[in-house]
Amino acid sequence: MNIEILKKKAAEKAVEHVQSGMVLGLGTGSTTRYAIIKVGELWQAGDLTDIVAVPTSEKTAELAQSYGIPLTTLDQNPKLDLAIDGADEVDPALNLIKGHGGALLREKMVESAAEQFIVVVDNSKLVSKLGTNFSLPIEVVKFGWKAHIAWLESFGYRPEIRGGEHDPFISDNDNYIIHCAFPNGIDDPAALADTLINRPGVVEHGLFLNMASQVIVAEADGLKTLDRT
Ligand code: A5P
Repeated sequence: MNIEILKKKAAEKAVEHVQSGMVLGLGTGSTTRYAIIKVGELWQAGDLTDIVAVPTSEKTAELAQSYGIPLTTLDQNPKLDLAIDGADEVDPALNLIKGHGGALLREKMVESAAEQFIVVVDNSKLVSKLGTNFSLPIEVVKFGWKAHIAWLESFGYRPEIRGGEHDPFISDNDNYIIHCAFPNGIDDPAALADTLINRPGVVEHGLFLNMASQVIVAEADGLKTLDRT
């Protein structure tokens, strides 16, 4: 089955959890896009009322606005009912790598403020070990970014600045993003998360550990739901 059809099915299943009156977190990426469109259609049809949404990127804000979905901020709504977002990798414990859409900092802020965080993926995103198929995005301040490259290389990892040194990608927060590949995957995601977040100059990383409440996976023969126990 076409991968876009799978993404759409997973995203639209998640939207079944959206109810009128909710404060929503809207993720970023090609899978979540289908969820935002569905929420927008329900909103426009009057089947969802009294919702507000916190977008996790400027791109998502633009899409939501194009459907007239009322937007809010974490300042105004520090607690959310439900966030929906995609992921780059999902391991058996429902830990995630996220951030290949470049929006990991706002995603983590918004999704950790949500009572329920539903992740929507096609089955190509399931891995037995994080770091197997995707590198880990790490958002860093611009100042001294090359020092992080040398530091990450010293562990045997393979870091690269997103966009390349001559035209680096700039995040919505005006930072750079380093994509760090792990030749043997990530053995201990919790230890790595601690190491990264304690490094001065690192703003956030794409390990989303113990955050997903549920993962909706679209496969050729249907949908399956994985719940965090
Ligand atoms: C955005 O920064 C990311 O965290 C995305 O949620 C993730 O990369 C999944 O995106 P796709 O749904 O486009 O694969």
